[in-house]
Amino acid sequence: MKAPSRTESAEATYVRTTPSSRALYEQACKVMPGGTTRTTVYFAPYPLYIERGQGAWVWDVDGIGRLDFLQNYSALILGHAHPRVTAALKAQLERGTSVAAANPIEIKLAAELCRRIPSVETVRFTNSGTEATMFAMRLARTFTGRQKIARFEGGYHGTHDFAEVSTKPDLGLAGLSTSPRPVPDSAGTPQVVVADTVILPYNDLPSVERILRRHGKDVAGVIVEPVIGAGGVIPGEPGFLRGLRDLTRELGMILIFDEVISLRIAPGGAQEHYGVTPDLTAMAKVIGGGLPVGAFGGRADLMEILDPRLPNAIPHGGTYNGHPLGMAAGLATLEVLTPAVYEELNRKGEWVRGRLREVFEAHDIAAQVTGIGSLFNIHFTSVPVRDHRSMRSSNPRMLRDLFLGLVNHGILMAPRAMGSICTPMTQEDLQALVDAVEQVTIERESEWRELGA
Ligand SMILES: Cc1ncc(COP(=O)(O)O)c(C=O)c1O
Repeated sequence: MKAPSRTESAEATYVRTTPSSRALYEQACKVMPGGTTRTTVYFAPYPLYIERGQGAWVWDVDGIGRLDFLQNYSALILGHAHPRVTAALKAQLERGTSVAAANPIEIKLAAELCRRIPSVETVRFTNSGTEATMFAMRLARTFTGRQKIARFEGGYHGTHDFAEVSTKPDLGLAGLSTSPRPVPDSAGTPQVVVADTVILPYNDLPSVERILRRHGKDVAGVIVEPVIGAGGVIPGEPGFLRGLRDLTRELGMILIFDEVISLRIAPGGAQEHYGVTPDLTAMAKVIGGGLPVGAFGGRADLMEILDPRLPNAIPHGGTYNGHPLGMAAGLATLEVLTPAVYEELNRKGEWVRGRLREVFEAHDIAAQVTGIGSLFNIHFTSVPVRDHRSMRSSNPRMLRDLFLGLVNHGILMAPRAMGSICTPMTQEDLQALVDAVEQVTIERESEWRELGA
């Protein structure tokens, strides 16, 4: 790829170097709205079309290789086409794809999740994190006989109706930061859902306590990401999750940890890291080894509501629940993920966050690098990022410059500047990320300074 010049805009470089992606996008626009089937992989002027991945790398349809710090939004903790995962998939594939029957391998993955994750006494599989949070919320409503679900402003729990309130609200409609109002994510979110959703401010225990006490016996459950993922990789602060645990127990509310992303920070997820055990846990991403697998699990007395041998059990169908390919890929992945592997990944994450902070400090650019374990997120703001409102102060123009600039320098990250580290990444790969961020900073420094950075 011809190197970007200082005078050319990041977008111009992108368009110049990715003609095959552009051509495919034009075809896609004829058959899919906006040319995409996944909003989160679209970015303007058109998304990158990736042909293959191997280890830490992906190659686009123009043959350009990039280091993949996105890893399918943190799911591919072992990188692309890990030999153990590929072998497990091949072996399973030869036995057929799916059957309407129980399969032995689902028991193995279930047992492994129960063994690792403190809150998970029993577990059920789904095909996505979306279904996992949906069922966890349904269990909370069924168990308590209450209707409302409390959730945090700026959290992300997937794409079902109850997940789609105040994920990224119009701040003009969202009320005070200490008493946020529910704002539907789109006109398609049912009004009844908005009315039955209580919005809480992250990392602000006194406000959470005041709001939850006010709603008292109406709230069935509180769903929280112990580390906000999609909303900026914001870790829960010391005492916050513990306080939430104590409060929900006192008020008879079910505490649901959404660990779809945070499960990658320790064998038992963020709940192990923080030493706080929820009632239910929603899971996905790493537990499927790159295949569409989700799960929800927790206290056996709560999960029992799904037992089909009991009267009035909650039905939990799903043509592909416990799909043998997903189970095989997930199991192979977890077998590789020993405690030592997490330690190594987390050490690399700490190193990256430290070096990135140094780059911005050296160039006097107001930026925060948040994260935990092998996750990180860059925010262009002088305000410490600890909740949704502070995250929203990040400069969107700088985020876009950085994202496209990094694509042009051979690095793939999320457009919102989130990244994750996978096991095949070497020290040279991590250094390449830091160097690319510095290079883009140098290229855009003067423009960014005019933006008041
Ligand atoms: C915390 C969290 N919960 C739920 C989901 C939804 O998972 P899925 O995309 O598998 O439906 C995501 C997806 O990124 C997530 O980050």
